[in-house]
Amino acid sequence: MNQENIYYLESHDELLNDPSLVSLMRTRIEAGGIYIIKNVAEKDFIVQIKLYLTNIGRNSLPNYKKIEEGCLNFHRINLWDKRSYVQACFHQFVFFPWNQDVFNFFEVFKKVYQVRNLISGNQKNKFLGIEPEDNCIARIAFQFYPKGIGGMHKHSDPIDHHQLTAPILQMSKKGVDFKNGGVFVETKDGKKILLEDFADVGDVVYFNAMLPHGVDTIDPECKPNWLSFEGRWTLLFAINKLFDNAQIRDAVDLEMDTLYKVV
Ligand SMILES: [Fe+2]
Repeated sequence: MNQENIYYLESHDELLNDPSLVSLMRTRIEAGGIYIIKNVAEKDFIVQIKLYLTNIGRNSLPNYKKIEEGCLNFHRINLWDKRSYVQACFHQFVFFPWNQDVFNFFEVFKKVYQVRNLISGNQKNKFLGIEPEDNCIARIAFQFYPKGIGGMHKHSDPIDHHQLTAPILQMSKKGVDFKNGGVFVETKDGKKILLEDFADVGDVVYFNAMLPHGVDTIDPECKPNWLSFEGRWTLLFAINKLFDNAQIRDAVDLEMDTLYKVV
């Protein structure tokens, strides 16, 4: 542990092989601690993914879709979309377990979901089948935040049977891919932690979903260009309620009074 309350581990295998480590991780995350698992994805693999998604993003139309059973994989532009519970600006690429994809993402990242489930007190493969469970489903969401405009309001996500934490994979390097902004978490004592100052490309970060967090605008001085794909990439290992599930509360935007940006 260090003064930032950040804990580092070398692999998910340590956790999957030792229930006591999972329970310690759960206790620490409940208390506001942050875990960084090092080198979960190889940097070359992340380059390949970004190239693939960039080609799709440049050459096909983005579309909005509700999260429902059998939903197609898709990509969409979220430009402060009022339909979202949390206001944000990013290009998102979404994958569901019932659709097979060229990278076999749910197999490649299975251990992340397994640890995520164990920390939440669930059976390790829950939500990963080809049908929803408890009206929820796993959803891999790559999010690209363009320079000059990309960001997400500070918000708090629901903690319920489906999650204590929603891990993210770092896919961009601060100081190289972008200079300013990025993902932040506010600790219980009100301290703001910029996660990209601590986690490297390929690392997976876990934090308490209820802690206020968001994405500060990426390089706000730059002119936005959605097609340049210059900015910040991340991967969110989500488990989402289906659109008609009213049992789990919605995320809360903590900046709702902020005027929407006009672009
Ligand atoms: Fe969130």
